[in-house]
Amino acid sequence: MSEKNVLRLETPTNILEEKTERKRNTAQRRWRILAKALTGSQEPISTDADDEVSVRRFTSFDLLEIDRLEDPRDDPDSGWYEYSAILENMPFSVQIRRLHKSFTANELIGFNNTGNVCVWPSEECLAYYLLRNREICRNRRVLELGGGMSCLAGVLAAKYCDPSDVTVTDGNVTSVDNVRCIVARNGMADFVDCRVVQWAKAARAIRTATQARAFAHSHSNGLRVKSWSGNDTASVLENLYDVILCADCLFFDEARSDLVETIYGWLANDGLALVMAPRRGSTFKKFAEAAAKRGFIARQIERYDGKIWSRHLELLEQSQEYCPDLHYPILLELTKQKRTPPG
Ligand SMILES: C[S@@+](CC[C@H](N)C(=O)[O-])C[C@H]1O[C@@H](n2cnc3c(N)ncnc32)[C@H](O)[C@@H]1O
Repeated sequence: MSEKNVLRLETPTNILEEKTERKRNTAQRRWRILAKALTGSQEPISTDADDEVSVRRFTSFDLLEIDRLEDPRDDPDSGWYEYSAILENMPFSVQIRRLHKSFTANELIGFNNTGNVCVWPSEECLAYYLLRNREICRNRRVLELGGGMSCLAGVLAAKYCDPSDVTVTDGNVTSVDNVRCIVARNGMADFVDCRVVQWAKAARAIRTATQARAFAHSHSNGLRVKSWSGNDTASVLENLYDVILCADCLFFDEARSDLVETIYGWLANDGLALVMAPRRGSTFKKFAEAAAKRGFIARQIERYDGKIWSRHLELLEQSQEYCPDLHYPILLELTKQKRTPPG
Protein backbone atom coordinates (compact mmCIF):
# COMPACT_ATOMS: atom_id res chain seq x y z
CA MET A 1 0.00 0.00 0.00
CA SER A 2 1.43 3.41 -0.97
CA GLU A 3 1.88 5.91 1.80
CA LYS A 4 -0.77 8.31 0.48
CA ASN A 5 -3.37 5.54 0.51
CA VAL A 6 -2.91 4.96 4.19
CA LEU A 7 -5.98 6.20 5.97
CA ARG A 8 -5.07 8.36 8.91
CA LEU A 9 -7.37 7.47 11.78
CA GLU A 10 -8.11 10.11 14.37
CA THR A 11 -7.31 7.86 17.28
CA PRO A 12 -6.69 9.37 20.72
CA THR A 13 -3.02 8.46 20.22
CA ASN A 14 -2.86 10.36 16.91
CA ILE A 15 -4.52 13.39 18.39
CA LEU A 16 -2.11 13.31 21.33
CA GLU A 17 0.85 12.93 18.96
CA GLU A 18 -0.28 15.90 16.87
CA LYS A 19 -0.83 18.01 19.94
CA THR A 20 2.61 17.03 21.19
CA GLU A 21 4.18 17.84 17.81
CA ARG A 22 2.47 21.27 17.70
CA LYS A 23 3.65 21.96 21.22
CA ARG A 24 7.16 20.83 20.32
CA ASN A 25 7.34 23.31 17.42
CA THR A 26 6.03 26.16 19.55
CA ALA A 27 8.42 25.09 22.27
CA GLN A 28 11.38 25.17 19.93
CA ARG A 29 10.43 28.70 18.82
CA ARG A 30 10.03 29.85 22.43
CA TRP A 31 13.22 28.13 23.44
CA ARG A 32 15.17 29.95 20.72
CA ILE A 33 13.89 33.24 22.15
CA LEU A 34 14.91 32.35 25.70
CA ALA A 35 18.22 30.92 24.52
CA LYS A 36 19.02 34.17 22.72
CA ALA A 37 18.39 36.09 25.91
CA LEU A 38 20.45 33.68 27.98
CA THR A 39 23.41 33.30 25.68
CA GLY A 40 23.76 36.95 24.78
CA SER A 41 23.22 36.35 21.07
CA GLN A 42 23.49 39.59 19.12
CA GLU A 43 20.47 38.64 17.02
CA PRO A 44 17.40 40.66 17.96
CA ILE A 45 15.12 38.96 20.45
CA SER A 46 11.52 38.63 19.26
CA THR A 47 9.29 41.27 20.79
CA ASP A 48 6.30 38.97 20.62
CA ALA A 49 5.15 39.53 24.18
CA ASP A 50 2.99 36.43 24.17
CA ASP A 51 5.94 34.19 23.34
CA GLU A 52 8.14 35.81 25.96
CA VAL A 53 5.50 35.36 28.63
CA SER A 54 4.63 31.79 27.70
CA VAL A 55 8.19 30.66 28.31
CA ARG A 56 7.50 31.30 31.98
CA ARG A 57 3.76 30.73 32.18
CA PHE A 58 4.06 27.13 33.33
CA THR A 59 5.79 27.29 36.70
CA SER A 60 5.05 24.18 38.71
CA PHE A 61 3.91 20.56 38.81
CA ASP A 62 2.16 21.40 42.11
CA LEU A 63 4.02 18.64 43.91
CA LEU A 64 4.52 20.84 46.95
CA GLU A 65 2.00 23.18 48.48
CA ILE A 66 3.20 26.76 48.59
CA ASP A 67 1.85 29.19 51.21
CA ARG A 68 2.85 32.80 51.63
CA LEU A 69 4.02 33.49 55.18
CA GLU A 70 3.29 36.80 56.81
CA ASP A 71 6.59 38.24 57.92
CA PRO A 72 7.40 41.76 59.07
CA ARG A 73 10.86 41.30 57.50
CA ASP A 74 9.32 41.02 54.02
CA ASP A 75 10.31 43.84 51.74
CA PRO A 76 8.97 44.80 48.31
CA ASP A 77 11.66 42.69 46.65
CA SER A 78 11.22 39.46 48.59
CA GLY A 79 8.83 37.33 50.63
CA TRP A 80 8.83 34.12 52.67
CA TYR A 81 6.90 31.04 51.58
CA GLU A 82 6.34 27.64 53.11
CA TYR A 83 6.87 24.73 50.71
CA SER A 84 5.25 21.61 52.12
CA ALA A 85 4.05 18.14 51.29
CA ILE A 86 2.62 15.14 53.06
CA LEU A 87 4.09 11.92 51.74
CA GLU A 88 3.19 8.54 53.17
CA ASN A 89 1.52 10.39 56.08
CA MET A 90 4.71 12.24 56.92
CA PRO A 91 4.73 16.05 56.79
CA PHE A 92 7.67 17.84 55.15
CA SER A 93 8.11 21.60 55.02
CA VAL A 94 10.72 24.24 54.50
CA GLN A 95 10.64 28.03 54.44
CA ILE A 96 11.91 29.62 51.26
CA ARG A 97 12.65 33.26 50.52
CA ARG A 98 11.59 34.26 47.04
CA LEU A 99 12.78 37.33 45.21
CA HIS A 100 9.97 39.25 43.56
CA LYS A 101 12.08 41.41 41.33
CA SER A 102 11.38 40.78 37.66
CA PHE A 103 14.36 40.47 35.35
CA THR A 104 14.60 41.94 31.88
CA ALA A 105 16.20 39.96 29.05
CA ASN A 106 19.28 42.20 29.42
CA GLU A 107 19.67 41.32 33.08
CA LEU A 108 19.38 37.64 32.20
CA ILE A 109 22.30 38.04 29.80
CA GLY A 110 24.84 39.08 32.44
CA PHE A 111 26.25 36.41 34.84
CA ASN A 112 23.33 34.22 34.86
CA ASN A 113 20.23 35.37 36.69
CA THR A 114 17.94 32.53 35.62
CA GLY A 115 18.18 31.03 39.11
CA ASN A 116 16.74 34.21 40.61
CA VAL A 117 13.66 34.14 38.41
CA CYS A 118 11.84 31.30 40.19
CA VAL A 119 12.14 27.79 41.51
CA TRP A 120 12.20 26.00 38.16
CA PRO A 121 10.05 22.86 37.74
CA SER A 122 13.18 20.68 37.54
CA GLU A 123 14.26 21.82 41.01
CA GLU A 124 10.76 21.10 42.31
CA CYS A 125 10.80 17.60 40.76
CA LEU A 126 14.30 16.86 42.03
CA ALA A 127 13.34 17.98 45.56
CA TYR A 128 10.20 15.83 45.46
CA TYR A 129 12.13 12.85 44.09
CA LEU A 130 14.63 13.10 46.97
CA LEU A 131 11.83 13.23 49.55
CA ARG A 132 10.38 10.07 48.02
CA ASN A 133 13.79 8.37 47.90
CA ARG A 134 15.38 9.59 51.10
CA GLU A 135 17.85 6.70 51.28
CA ILE A 136 19.80 8.17 48.34
CA CYS A 137 21.28 10.91 50.54
CA ARG A 138 21.37 9.04 53.87
CA ASN A 139 24.85 9.29 55.45
CA ARG A 140 26.16 10.75 52.19
CA ARG A 141 28.07 13.92 51.41
CA VAL A 142 25.74 15.91 49.17
CA LEU A 143 26.57 18.78 46.81
CA GLU A 144 24.11 20.83 44.78
CA LEU A 145 25.41 22.71 41.73
CA GLY A 146 23.46 25.58 40.09
CA GLY A 147 20.79 25.44 42.79
CA GLY A 148 19.51 28.96 42.03
CA MET A 149 17.84 31.17 44.61
CA SER A 150 16.31 28.32 46.64
CA CYS A 151 18.55 25.24 46.28
CA LEU A 152 15.24 23.59 47.23
CA ALA A 153 16.48 20.06 46.54
CA GLY A 154 19.67 20.45 48.59
CA VAL A 155 17.88 22.25 51.42
CA LEU A 156 15.11 19.62 51.69
CA ALA A 157 17.70 16.84 51.48
CA ALA A 158 19.59 18.51 54.35
CA LYS A 159 16.44 18.75 56.45
CA TYR A 160 14.90 15.33 55.83
CA CYS A 161 17.33 12.85 54.27
CA ASP A 162 19.98 12.46 57.03
CA PRO A 163 23.00 13.26 54.87
CA SER A 164 26.43 13.44 56.53
CA ASP A 165 26.81 16.97 55.17
CA VAL A 166 25.41 19.25 52.51
CA THR A 167 26.94 21.97 50.36
CA VAL A 168 24.61 24.07 48.22
CA THR A 169 26.02 26.27 45.49
CA ASP A 170 25.30 28.51 42.55
CA GLY A 171 27.44 30.75 40.36
CA ASN A 172 25.27 33.77 41.11
CA VAL A 173 26.16 35.72 44.26
CA THR A 174 22.60 37.05 44.75
CA SER A 175 21.24 33.49 44.61
CA VAL A 176 23.77 32.23 47.15
CA ASP A 177 23.05 35.17 49.51
CA ASN A 178 19.36 34.27 49.33
CA VAL A 179 20.09 30.59 50.01
CA ARG A 180 22.16 31.62 53.05
CA CYS A 181 19.07 33.44 54.44
CA ILE A 182 16.97 30.32 53.76
CA VAL A 183 19.44 27.98 55.45
CA ALA A 184 19.65 30.28 58.49
CA ARG A 185 15.86 30.69 58.74
CA ASN A 186 15.43 26.89 58.68
CA GLY A 187 17.99 26.50 61.46
CA MET A 188 20.55 24.62 59.36
CA ALA A 189 23.42 27.14 59.21
CA ASP A 190 25.62 24.79 61.28
CA PHE A 191 25.60 21.92 58.86
CA VAL A 192 24.72 23.32 55.43
CA ASP A 193 27.48 25.13 53.63
CA CYS A 194 26.41 27.78 51.05
CA ARG A 195 29.00 28.73 48.47
CA VAL A 196 29.44 30.54 45.19
CA VAL A 197 30.74 27.95 42.72
CA GLN A 198 31.20 28.87 39.07
CA TRP A 199 31.74 25.80 36.93
CA ALA A 200 34.50 27.29 34.77
CA LYS A 201 36.60 28.13 37.84
CA ALA A 202 35.83 24.82 39.52
CA ALA A 203 36.68 22.85 36.37
CA ARG A 204 39.96 24.76 35.97
CA ALA A 205 40.92 24.06 39.57
CA ILE A 206 40.02 20.37 39.16
CA ARG A 207 42.07 20.05 35.95
CA THR A 208 45.06 21.77 37.60
CA ALA A 209 44.78 19.56 40.66
CA THR A 210 44.51 16.42 38.54
CA GLN A 211 47.63 17.38 36.58
CA ALA A 212 49.48 18.29 39.79
CA ARG A 213 48.55 14.94 41.32
CA ALA A 214 49.82 13.08 38.25
CA PHE A 215 53.00 15.17 38.38
CA ALA A 216 53.49 14.46 42.10
CA HIS A 217 53.05 10.72 41.46
CA SER A 218 55.76 10.74 38.83
CA HIS A 219 58.15 12.90 40.97
CA SER A 220 58.68 11.20 44.28
CA ASN A 221 60.31 14.28 45.87
CA GLY A 222 56.88 15.22 47.28
CA LEU A 223 56.80 18.62 45.55
CA ARG A 224 53.50 20.42 46.24
CA VAL A 225 52.04 22.56 43.45
CA LYS A 226 50.01 25.69 44.04
CA SER A 227 46.66 26.13 42.26
CA TRP A 228 45.26 29.18 40.47
CA SER A 229 43.89 30.47 43.76
CA GLY A 230 47.18 30.00 45.60
CA ASN A 231 45.84 27.07 47.63
CA ASP A 232 47.39 23.69 47.67
CA THR A 233 45.81 22.01 44.65
CA ALA A 234 45.45 18.70 46.44
CA SER A 235 42.60 20.13 48.55
CA VAL A 236 40.42 20.58 45.45
CA LEU A 237 40.22 16.82 45.04
CA GLU A 238 39.88 15.97 48.71
CA ASN A 239 36.49 15.37 50.33
CA LEU A 240 34.68 14.28 47.22
CA TYR A 241 30.87 14.10 47.20
CA ASP A 242 28.77 10.93 47.19
CA VAL A 243 25.70 12.60 45.69
CA ILE A 244 25.71 15.57 43.34
CA LEU A 245 22.41 17.31 42.49
CA CYS A 246 21.82 19.58 39.55
CA ALA A 247 18.50 20.90 38.18
CA ASP A 248 17.86 22.69 34.89
CA CYS A 249 21.44 23.69 34.20
CA LEU A 250 22.06 21.93 30.89
CA PHE A 251 21.17 24.65 28.43
CA PHE A 252 24.34 26.74 28.76
CA ASP A 253 26.25 25.65 25.66
CA GLU A 254 29.49 27.38 26.61
CA ALA A 255 29.47 25.96 30.15
CA ARG A 256 28.60 22.37 29.23
CA SER A 257 32.10 20.88 29.35
CA ASP A 258 32.93 22.77 32.57
CA LEU A 259 29.80 21.45 34.26
CA VAL A 260 30.61 17.90 33.16
CA GLU A 261 34.19 18.29 34.43
CA THR A 262 33.03 19.76 37.76
CA ILE A 263 30.67 16.86 38.37
CA TYR A 264 33.29 14.33 37.28
CA GLY A 265 36.03 15.89 39.41
CA TRP A 266 33.95 16.19 42.58
CA LEU A 267 31.99 12.95 42.44
CA ALA A 268 33.41 10.07 44.48
CA ASN A 269 34.23 6.95 42.47
CA ASP A 270 31.16 5.14 43.76
CA GLY A 271 29.04 8.29 43.85
CA LEU A 272 25.84 9.21 42.00
CA ALA A 273 24.96 12.46 40.25
CA LEU A 274 21.26 13.19 39.79
CA VAL A 275 20.84 15.67 36.99
CA MET A 276 17.30 16.77 36.11
CA ALA A 277 16.41 18.93 33.16
CA PRO A 278 13.90 19.22 30.35
CA ARG A 279 15.08 18.36 26.84
CA ARG A 280 15.16 22.04 25.79
CA GLY A 281 15.90 21.37 22.15
CA SER A 282 19.05 19.28 21.88
CA THR A 283 20.69 20.62 25.06
CA PHE A 284 19.87 17.65 27.29
CA LYS A 285 21.11 15.21 24.66
CA LYS A 286 24.35 17.15 24.14
CA PHE A 287 25.01 17.15 27.88
CA ALA A 288 24.35 13.41 28.19
CA GLU A 289 26.72 12.76 25.28
CA ALA A 290 29.42 14.99 26.78
CA ALA A 291 29.04 13.19 30.12
CA ALA A 292 29.38 9.75 28.49
CA LYS A 293 32.44 10.97 26.56
CA ARG A 294 34.03 12.12 29.81
CA GLY A 295 33.70 8.60 31.23
CA PHE A 296 30.36 8.59 33.01
CA ILE A 297 27.82 5.84 32.68
CA ALA A 298 24.75 7.94 31.85
CA ARG A 299 21.31 6.49 32.47
CA GLN A 300 18.36 8.51 31.22
CA ILE A 301 15.04 7.93 32.99
CA GLU A 302 11.75 9.52 31.90
CA ARG A 303 9.37 7.82 34.35
CA TYR A 304 11.24 8.15 37.59
CA ASP A 305 8.20 8.91 39.73
CA GLY A 306 4.56 7.85 39.39
CA LYS A 307 3.04 11.12 40.60
CA ILE A 308 5.27 13.34 38.46
CA TRP A 309 4.52 11.17 35.42
CA SER A 310 0.75 11.34 35.94
CA ARG A 311 0.93 15.14 36.41
CA HIS A 312 2.85 15.26 33.12
CA LEU A 313 0.14 13.25 31.32
CA GLU A 314 -2.62 15.38 32.86
CA LEU A 315 -0.87 18.60 31.83
CA LEU A 316 -0.31 17.31 28.29
CA GLU A 317 -4.05 16.79 27.99
CA GLN A 318 -5.29 19.87 29.78
CA SER A 319 -2.79 22.72 29.75
CA GLN A 320 -2.08 25.08 26.87
CA GLU A 321 1.01 26.42 28.64
CA TYR A 322 2.62 23.07 29.33
CA CYS A 323 5.24 22.05 26.86
CA PRO A 324 7.23 18.91 27.77
CA ASP A 325 10.27 19.99 25.77
CA LEU A 326 10.63 23.05 28.01
CA HIS A 327 9.06 21.80 31.20
CA TYR A 328 9.15 18.03 31.74
CA PRO A 329 12.39 17.21 33.56
CA ILE A 330 14.12 13.99 32.58
CA LEU A 331 16.38 12.36 35.13
CA LEU A 332 19.95 11.65 34.14
CA GLU A 333 21.82 9.42 36.56
CA LEU A 334 25.57 9.66 36.23
CA THR A 335 27.94 7.14 37.75
CA LYS A 336 31.61 6.61 37.08
CA GLN A 337 32.79 3.67 35.05
CA LYS A 338 34.46 1.12 37.27
CA ARG A 339 38.17 0.98 36.65
CA THR A 340 39.50 -2.52 36.19
CA PRO A 341 42.53 -3.00 38.41
CA PRO A 342 45.73 -3.56 36.40
CA GLY A 343 46.70 -7.20 35.85
C1 LIG B 1 17.60 27.74 35.11
S1 LIG B 1 18.50 28.13 36.56
C2 LIG B 1 18.12 26.75 37.59
C3 LIG B 1 18.22 27.10 39.03
C4 LIG B 1 17.69 26.03 39.96
N1 LIG B 1 18.43 24.80 39.83
C5 LIG B 1 16.22 25.78 39.70
O1 LIG B 1 15.94 24.83 38.94
O2 LIG B 1 15.38 26.49 40.24
C6 LIG B 1 20.20 27.81 36.13
C7 LIG B 1 21.17 28.10 37.27
O3 LIG B 1 22.50 27.82 36.83
C8 LIG B 1 23.37 28.82 37.35
N2 LIG B 1 24.52 28.93 36.45
C9 LIG B 1 24.51 29.24 35.14
N3 LIG B 1 25.75 29.22 34.63
C10 LIG B 1 26.56 28.90 35.67
C11 LIG B 1 27.96 28.72 35.76
N4 LIG B 1 28.75 28.87 34.72
N5 LIG B 1 28.48 28.39 36.97
C12 LIG B 1 27.65 28.20 38.04
N6 LIG B 1 26.32 28.37 38.01
C13 LIG B 1 25.77 28.71 36.83
C14 LIG B 1 22.54 30.08 37.34
O4 LIG B 1 23.05 31.06 38.22
C15 LIG B 1 21.16 29.56 37.69
O5 LIG B 1 20.93 29.64 39.07
